[in-house]
Order: sequence, then structure tokens, then C-alpha cells
Amino acid sequence: MLSFLIAMLMTLSCTCGENPAIKATLSNKGLQYGKHVVAGLIQEMLKHVTFPDISGAIDIHVGKIHYTFTGVTITKCDFPEPSVMFSQEHNGLTASISGFNAALTGRWKTSFGILHDSGSFSMVIFNLGVTSEVALGMDANGHPSVTSISCNARIGDANVRFRGGASWVFNKFVGYFKRQMIEEMERQVCPVVHESIDSLEYHLQTMNGIAAHHSLTHISYDVDQVLTLDLPLNDSPIVSASSLKFGLKGEFYSTKTHKEPPFVAKPFNLTEQPGYMVSLGLSEFTLNSASYGYFSAGALEALITDSMIPPFSPVHLNTSSMGLFIPELPKRFPGLAMNLQVYARESPVFSIQSGAVKLDVQVCVKAVAIAPNGTQIPLFKLNADSELSGKMLIADELLKGSVMLDNLTLALVSSEVGPVKIAALESALKGALKIGVLPQVNAKLEKGFILPRMKHAQLVNSVLTVEEGFIAVSSDALILPGGSLI
Ligand SMILES: *[C@@H]1O[C@H](CO)[C@@H](O)[C@H](O)[C@H]1NC(C)=O
Ligand SMILES: *[C@@H]1O[C@H](CO)[C@@H](O)[C@H](O)[C@H]1NC(C)=O
Ligand SMILES: *[C@@H]1O[C@H](CO)[C@@H](O)[C@H](O)[C@H]1NC(C)=O
Ligand SMILES: *[C@@H]1O[C@H](CO)[C@@H](O)[C@H](O)[C@H]1NC(C)=O
Repeated sequence: MLSFLIAMLMTLSCTCGENPAIKATLSNKGLQYGKHVVAGLIQEMLKHVTFPDISGAIDIHVGKIHYTFTGVTITKCDFPEPSVMFSQEHNGLTASISGFNAALTGRWKTSFGILHDSGSFSMVIFNLGVTSEVALGMDANGHPSVTSISCNARIGDANVRFRGGASWVFNKFVGYFKRQMIEEMERQVCPVVHESIDSLEYHLQTMNGIAAHHSLTHISYDVDQVLTLDLPLNDSPIVSASSLKFGLKGEFYSTKTHKEPPFVAKPFNLTEQPGYMVSLGLSEFTLNSASYGYFSAGALEALITDSMIPPFSPVHLNTSSMGLFIPELPKRFPGLAMNLQVYARESPVFSIQSGAVKLDVQVCVKAVAIAPNGTQIPLFKLNADSELSGKMLIADELLKGSVMLDNLTLALVSSEVGPVKIAALESALKGALKIGVLPQVNAKLEKGFILPRMKHAQLVNSVLTVEEGFIAVSSDALILPGGSLI
């Protein structure tokens, strides 16, 4: 009963059925690069590994000699490049290695009835081949999972040389029990492979070192004090002959309200890019959930004071310089400082169209004058609706862009200081944005921003395209030395 309840709770947290808002594809190029890096790590690791004890018994008709090999280490090995392929059949990967040769040393111990003996040995293994198949999937909490499907290990041949104790006896009989020892060693290989897969699975479950915080039911990353990004898988990864595809929830939430936005993710198709190791599709929904998260947390507000207006501006936030737009104002409250309280009326909406990202922002502006005794005197309130459009690209490993003001409309909501010449104010504001603000923003965007970088991996040769409904980034990766993949 309890397990049934737990299983039910887990299915509740699964986001199956919803469209993924972020998609990622690993191409065969990426798989081969990953394999190359992992093979290098394994080769390094093998130098320091001590194998588990190998023990068995040899029937010599008059009884059994029990033997144990302990402290077995590799003194020399030649580790051929393994092969790794996508396996559609098991929705996973098939990895194999053949022609692995290694020289080992260790201690031997035997017991034959009450007779005990020990010494050291050296061994050469020829032509070890291992094939392992794993299936990729997803657990109930949206974590990726790896399951071992099959494992096969074969050793071509081995030479053993015993030293110490009665080894001169054993050395004579090596030919008789060599095959049995080889089979025993073959049996030891796959449990080691399974163990490594289990430990990989464990790392995937906990996303060790990557997740800022993570509970049993969520994979999420705190972006800042306001937003958290939910990134569970939406469904099991899909393996095709040439790629591995993931769909992720990719939804930002306000950490305060955790409110669902009133819109859902639309489906989109990320085209395969076999020339790049990885591709990533970031949908409109992900951007809009971020904007909704900020909005629902009340974080989209700003106070504009005169100190933010450049000194060369002809208009200042001072009641005396507003006569052109509000004739009554300088007469009623001459020489007072003003400020503008700006807050979003609606959640800003991104719409991604081929080639351009559009952003609609609707704000309310409350203007107040500051009396010498500090009292705020309400002046007027207006709505400002603006449409911006931007271009994005990745060049020289930097994210660059540009923003344009497509439209700006002002509408007066109320005024305490007589008529407001909206059309004149609108064109002055447009001019100020186009001449004063956007060129500065664009200068920053043109210089570019460094692409997000992980501790041990870096994106190189990245390209960004803006598609219908999503932003696509295709890239190669560079694993930095000294890193481990997990
Ligand atoms: C995505 O591709 C599938 C299969 O090719 C197609 O049925 C679907 O309409 C496509 N969706 C979009 C949003 O282009
Ligand atoms: C506003 O402008 C007037 C005229 O230029 C100036 O005398 C006054 O000091 C200004 N007020 C503030 C608060 O800066
Ligand atoms: C502050 O000054 C304003 C305008 O000069 C006045 O109306 C208001 O009564 C004053 N408030 C206080 C607390 O003195
Ligand atoms: C600007 O917005 C207003 C109000 O939404 C609209 O009537 C007008 O057609 C828009 N102008 C342009 C150039 O898009």
C-alpha cells in the first residue's frame, strides 16, 4: 500500500505529456568526442586501480587447491580506443573494446588442506574484449537513468609467472589451470562494469556538483534571488541511429510564488546538426516563464530619478523643465525634483520569430514631485506600451546582439496637474530612447557577453540561430584538462 502511494506521488511530479521547453541533442560527433575523453580518463584511472581479489579453486583429483590473487595492479597496459555507438534497439548505447593487453602484478595465496603457501606473481593478459550495452531512460522524478542491459567479457590468452613459495611447482602446471583462471578473470570484469554504471547512475540521480539545490522530486537551479529554473526530463531520452535527444521542462518559477503562468509550452522541432557535437533549443516559453516569474514576484519595477538622466539631456526630471508637455506643472510646483515610478502592468511577452526576438513591454508610470520637506506630490499617471525587437548571434565565442525600438505609445491615465500633451511627450521619449538609451545598450550588446561556462567544459565553434518559436544553439564542446565528466 505504502509503495503504491509513493509510486503515485512520484507520477504526480513527472511532467510527462507537457511539451518540453528546452530540447538538447547529442550528435554522433559529440558521442565520439565524449568517448575519447572518457577513454583517456579510464586509461589514467587504470594506472592507479587495484583490482578486487580474484579467487577460485583447482581440482587436482586428490583435493582442491584454493587460490587467491590479491593486490592486483596494472604495471603496463595498452588501451585501444574503444568504440561507442547509439543503439536504437535498446534506446541506449553499445560500447566495446577489443585488443586490450595488460601486464599485472600481485600476490598469490594458496591453501590445500592445511597447507598454506604464498608469493608474488606477474601476469600478462592478451586481447581482452568487453562489450557492454546500456539503456537510457528516466526515473519517476525526471532524472536521467542508465541501466546495464548486457555485458560480455573475453580474454584471448594469458601468461602467468609465480615467484616465491612452492611456485616452481605451480609454474609447471600453469598450462593446466590457465584456462580456468582466465574464465575466473572474465567473470570479474562485468561486475566491475556494472558497478561503474551504477555509480554513473547515482551521479545522474543526484546531479552531483551541478544542482544548486535538489530534492527528491525536483531538479532545479537557483538563477538569482527571484528565479529558479526547473529542469527535469519531460520524457525518456530518445536514441536514434545518429543522435540522442532530450526534452527538458525548462520552466522558470518565482521562488516566492511558484505560480504557474497562464500559458503553456508549444511544440517545436530542433533540427539535427550532425556537424556539431550538441544542439540546444530554447523556446519562447522558457523566456516567457522567466518574465512571468519576475512579474509575479513583483520584481519588475524601477524608480527613475534625475540622477539617471544624462546632464546633456534637454529635459530633466524637474517640474520647471516640463512646461513643454504639462503647461500647468511649472506654475503650480516650480523648481521641484521629480521621479518616475515605473512598474510592469503585464508580464512582458517574448515572441521568437525567424531571425528576430520581439518583446512587448507594458508599464505604468507614476510621476511625483518631491516637496522640499520630502513629501511626494502625485502629478500624473500614464501607461506606456513598447515593442522592442532584437537580433542575437554568437561570434568569437561571445553572445552578441542588438535591440531596436519598434513602437512606443503613451496613454494618459490621470493627471493632478491639468492637461498633458501626450503626443509631444511620446515623441520626446522615443527620441530620448533612440538617441540616449539604445545606443548605449547596443554598444554593450555589440561587445558581447562570454558564453556560460562550466567548471570543466567550454563551448567552442558555437552558432546561434533564431527560429520560429525558439532559439537554436549548435556547438562543439571542449572538456578542459583535469576535469571529470561528472
Ligand atoms: C515536428 O515534426 C513532426 C514530425 O516530423 C511533425 O509532425 C510536426 O508537425 C512538427 N512540429 C512543428 C511544430 O514543426
Ligand atoms: C529645477 O530647475 C530649476 C531651474 O533650472 C532650478 O532652479 C532648480 O534648482 C531645480 N531643482 C532641483 C531640485 O534640481
Ligand atoms: C510639505 O510640503 C507640502 C507642499 O509644500 C505641503 O503641502 C505639506 O503640508 C508639507 N507637509 C509637511 C508634513 O510639512
Ligand atoms: C504602434 O502601436 C499602436 C498601438 O498599439 C498601433 O496602433 C500602431 O499601429 C503601432 N505602430 C507600429 C508602427 O507598429
